[in-house]
Amino acid sequence: MQYVCTKCGKHTPVTTMSPTCECGGLFELDYTPPAWNPALIDQKEWSLFRYRRFLALDGNAWRDVTMGEGHTPIIRLDDDVMLKMDYLMPTLSFKDRGAATLVSHMKAIGVKSCVQDSSGNAGNAVAAYAARAGISCEIFVPEGTSPSKIRMIESHGARVNVVPGTRDHCADVCRAKVKSEGAYYANHVYNPFFYEGMKAYIYETLEQLGRIPANIVVPVGNGTLFIGVVKALEHLLASGVIEKFPQIIALQSENCDPLYQAAQEHMPHAAHVTPAPTMAEGIAIGVPMRGDELLDMAYRHNIVFVRAPEDKILQARAKIAARGVYCEHTTAANYAAYLAYCEEHGSTPDTLITMCGAGIKSDH
Ligand SMILES: Cc1ncc(COP(=O)(O)O)c(C=O)c1O
Ligand SMILES: [Zn+2]
Repeated sequence: MQYVCTKCGKHTPVTTMSPTCECGGLFELDYTPPAWNPALIDQKEWSLFRYRRFLALDGNAWRDVTMGEGHTPIIRLDDDVMLKMDYLMPTLSFKDRGAATLVSHMKAIGVKSCVQDSSGNAGNAVAAYAARAGISCEIFVPEGTSPSKIRMIESHGARVNVVPGTRDHCADVCRAKVKSEGAYYANHVYNPFFYEGMKAYIYETLEQLGRIPANIVVPVGNGTLFIGVVKALEHLLASGVIEKFPQIIALQSENCDPLYQAAQEHMPHAAHVTPAPTMAEGIAIGVPMRGDELLDMAYRHNIVFVRAPEDKILQARAKIAARGVYCEHTTAANYAAYLAYCEEHGSTPDTLITMCGAGIKSDH
């Protein structure tokens, strides 16, 4: 299997230890899944690897890595909203999807150690799956990251570096280490194998509901779920399983909204913003590395960007908790943004919202 560079189009074998093309461009997988066909689902596998025929994967390394991630329930919040309970995974967030496929790839190509930067959840997930695969791991998190996330990362034997400053600066520090020491960058933004796992969010939804809901709310910091969802829906569309794209409602924080701002003007590049502190730490990404790609996808499919009002996040969290679901602040921002969308567009039934992080992770 090959990567293709998003900048110069050069092909590179996926066995490379390099995080980018020689030209500095980000990789994409040169991979087209077979047409969607339920007969290709492995009905005996109770993890997202049941869809492995539609995921770019090398060999059977995933068997030693999987912890049964995926297959999260879809429950009702109210008449209009369904919640996909994506924090019901081994490390309590939706990042297990991508970490499971990325670490499976890393094991398949013989990676022995890795580094990663994260607001906490992706680092948690990579640390856990790397431990399982016998790969040593070092995680960079920004200052202010919830102590419970840090404790979880350390519990898997990973080294944690808390970097003063913003989330974007934390990524810069980690990338400098990747460059100077040639460390394998197990990163959810750079490495396309991460997105492969995120695609299963849509495949599961189709299998569980027997259809795709009219509206899908997706948080966007670096856009890992966003890219996975769009890729899987494009796959279902090309396979003739769905006739039209659902309305994707992509949300950013009111205090950090480079893609929202760009989309208002139909600009091809993320806007320059100065992120202000937000409770939605998971989406506090001022410089999304795949910003052009995300905006291109958004314009292709009439995706709407919405901002989660900062002063409505706790209220949204309380409303969800009153229905029995305890999610983290960033996750509550999804619901706060949905309510803001409804204020503007009227009631929006048949909506799926991800419960992407567990509440105990953001109890600061
Ligand atoms: C709970 C939660 N929601 C949303 C996001 C945003 O994900 P992404 O940066 O891949 O868009 C994150 C990222 O860490 C997160 O932890
Ligand atoms: Zn290139």
